[in-house]
Amino acid sequence: MATPISDFPPAGTKLPAARRPPGLVGFIGLLFTLLGVSWAVVGAFLAPLLPGGWPTMLAVAGVVTLVPFTTFLVSRARGIYPGRLFRLTSFRFLWYSHFWLLLAMLAGVAGAAVGLLLVAVGGDSRVVGDAGRLTIAFASAVFVVAMIAGYWGSRQLVVTEMDVTHAAIPAELDGLRIVQVSDVHVGPHTRASWLKGIADAVMGADPHLIAITGDLVDDFDEDVVHYAKGLGALHAPLGVFVIAGNHDIYANWPKVRERLGALPVRVLVNEHVVVEHAGARFVVAGTGDPAAGRNAGTALGAVDIAATVRNLPSDLFTIALAHNPVLWPSLAERSLHLTLSGHTHWGQFAIPALEWCLASPFLEHAMGWHARGESLLYIHPGTTWWGIPFRLGTPPEVAVLTLRRVERGVAPGIGGRRSRQVAC
Ligand SMILES: [Fe+2]
Repeated sequence: MATPISDFPPAGTKLPAARRPPGLVGFIGLLFTLLGVSWAVVGAFLAPLLPGGWPTMLAVAGVVTLVPFTTFLVSRARGIYPGRLFRLTSFRFLWYSHFWLLLAMLAGVAGAAVGLLLVAVGGDSRVVGDAGRLTIAFASAVFVVAMIAGYWGSRQLVVTEMDVTHAAIPAELDGLRIVQVSDVHVGPHTRASWLKGIADAVMGADPHLIAITGDLVDDFDEDVVHYAKGLGALHAPLGVFVIAGNHDIYANWPKVRERLGALPVRVLVNEHVVVEHAGARFVVAGTGDPAAGRNAGTALGAVDIAATVRNLPSDLFTIALAHNPVLWPSLAERSLHLTLSGHTHWGQFAIPALEWCLASPFLEHAMGWHARGESLLYIHPGTTWWGIPFRLGTPPEVAVLTLRRVERGVAPGIGGRRSRQVAC
């Protein structure tokens, strides 16, 4: 049964025209303090090597930090939509240069600490600066190699198949394929050939249902135009379901949702639908995102679990789409069978054999699958990247989850994970 496209916004709804980035003033203050300290530390080591010394160092800091940040903030305040060239130059330069700056600052401090130890045991005091410069040089070399490897890794799209086993899956749904795409972060900078590769991988999996679990766009509602060009034609017999991610919220969710209304997708936010397949019925539910609310300039899209599950038929197998896995405990509490999330990107740097990723220190559920009672969670690693094209140990993924019925008493799980690389 194809699901209908919902009417949005409701008649008479006034859409906010301006977007207001979350906690902007405090964030900028903290950021510039951190960057100022970083330049001061790095300058202490490198200024003596530069012709002109500190004035040259300050000029470099101004060009690298102040010019692009000011350009970015002014363009943002004036509501100027950043095009492909601006994002590929200014945005990416900002990311790379400031990652290096923070790394160089930490390396310099570590090197100087070692130097101080050497001075304490009788070494020459000049060794402090030399040790700091040496570790900065070493860290810079590691940074360049890592960025090249990460860039290569960000282009290795894989299709990952896995089986979802659960006793609540009716026999008629055994073999049903859900293809999950997440965190594509599409903008004018996203290559058309990359999106075509994703679309081919999705449609090549012959999905019964497609789930797009948030972060479709990269912070601007106009990005939906680029999403539509690349992935707007995705289709499946049971529908294409879309939820909001935090970046869709930042992009002015009411506008994003309005634009998505022109596509053949079913936007599910704080609601659920009953879907029928082969004579059996099941539920697809979609949540809002915690990013909406107080700081996002819009309450539309905020999490409302009670509304999501209101009148939900408890006897049906239920698939919940929740961008942020932090929502899963609330969904598991309500015994929803399978939750599909994204958001973490697996930190874009992971060691799957150790079940560790860069997001692990910050989140209870950061990667892979989890079970709590009768509830399962799969955290998708993302189908593209955010910030800079960097992924190591966690390639961009199109996930194919096949439902498999098991006997009552068998613990539910997600297994048989197998990935293959696809041309992109
Ligand atoms: Fe994301």
